[in-house]
Amino acid sequence: MAVYHASAETQHVVQDFFAQLQTALQQDQLQKVVLSKYQGQEPLQRITLRPVMIKQQALLSFVYTYKTNDQTKNFDYTAALAELTRLAGSEFKNLHLLTASHEIQLTFSKKGKAALFSHKLQNAAQEAAVNKDHNREKQRYLTLERPFLQELGITDAQHKLIPAMSRKWKQINKFIEIFSRALQSTDLIKQGKVHVADFGSGKAYLTFAVHDYLRHTLQLDAKVTGVELRQELVQLCNDTACKLDLNGIDFQQGDVKHFAAQGINIMIALHACDVATDYAIHMGIRTGSDIIMCSPCCHKQIRPQMHSPLLLQPLLQHGIHLGQEAEMITDSLRAMLLEAWGYDTQVFEFISLEHTSKNKMILAVKNKLSREKKAEKYQKIMAQIQAIKEFYGIKEQCLESLLAENL
Ligand SMILES: C[S@@+](CC[C@H](N)C(=O)[O-])C[C@H]1O[C@@H](n2cnc3c(N)ncnc32)[C@H](O)[C@@H]1O
Repeated sequence: MAVYHASAETQHVVQDFFAQLQTALQQDQLQKVVLSKYQGQEPLQRITLRPVMIKQQALLSFVYTYKTNDQTKNFDYTAALAELTRLAGSEFKNLHLLTASHEIQLTFSKKGKAALFSHKLQNAAQEAAVNKDHNREKQRYLTLERPFLQELGITDAQHKLIPAMSRKWKQINKFIEIFSRALQSTDLIKQGKVHVADFGSGKAYLTFAVHDYLRHTLQLDAKVTGVELRQELVQLCNDTACKLDLNGIDFQQGDVKHFAAQGINIMIALHACDVATDYAIHMGIRTGSDIIMCSPCCHKQIRPQMHSPLLLQPLLQHGIHLGQEAEMITDSLRAMLLEAWGYDTQVFEFISLEHTSKNKMILAVKNKLSREKKAEKYQKIMAQIQAIKEFYGIKEQCLESLLAENL
């Protein structure tokens, strides 16, 4: 603010506000600061600040909300406080500070006189404020203002969600939430360089979302490669990337069965058909990816090989059950193979069935077990796999055969 021209009383009030902000930062109690009542010439509506951790550095993320889009800049604390001091009272007449325990408002009158209002949050209000902030945190992975969403037809020119795309939007957000958690469980953010390959990228909703999250939200030096069989989709996605003037994303025509990936640390395959999922997982393991994420679809390989064990015949006499059993066995074998090859693996519902019927996620994160423990685990799981295959009369599972060639 223009502290030089302000009265001593206003200077005192402003200093008090900044002292409380600094205390909240030091005690890790800051939820957010919102600057509103903008007085400048740009179509700027407000700025929202939140603490973020990027490459293990505590920063303040400033989201500048304009009429039609958002822009994010991250500042270290010193630079952030300098920027706030410049803006307070001059460009913004209202600053709203929310900490874990207090709500504090700094306002400036037309004549530039500052006033400070503070109240302690009651338990319920405190919880609500924090929860509200956690909910926003969820939304923070991606926001509707991001330009790629408009280009992909998820939002309109006013950055409003197109109703028919609301399922896709939910799916994308959920996916990024899972992706983000997996990423944070590795050292990849610390290393600062991330290379993601998305096999069977299709129209690339998720490929663009991952790219945006890594490069825009996390500001990492990330590279994202989409691999797709259909040339027309490759062309479409490269054109989109070009139109959006994006760096670090490209699409290549290729078959996951033969694609020679290099230097990948995250492998994604969402709804890659049938054994394409096995080839993609194999590629992830072979290239030593830290994270492997796949959502399998159409399980064709195991079912024709399966015969129903006597005990299960009353259950599996129904075609639908046999299909479900085959799908469960296929994905369980994939998860077990990932465990055997050094990954901590989870299989879970990735988004509720109302949003899409292809809702299973296999998420594998490379573990740090010793060589001996890995070898021991490998032997144990491979024996279990053998027993399951014998039980159901299964001769071949694609991922297992591909991995056997590696040995
Ligand atoms: C169901 S779409 C999923 C697209 C995208 N991953 C998503 O989840 O929105 C499957 C895509 O995988 C591609 N595909 C199928 N088999 C493939 C293979 N062997 N190699 C590369 N792409 C493949 C298809 O052309 C199709 O675009």
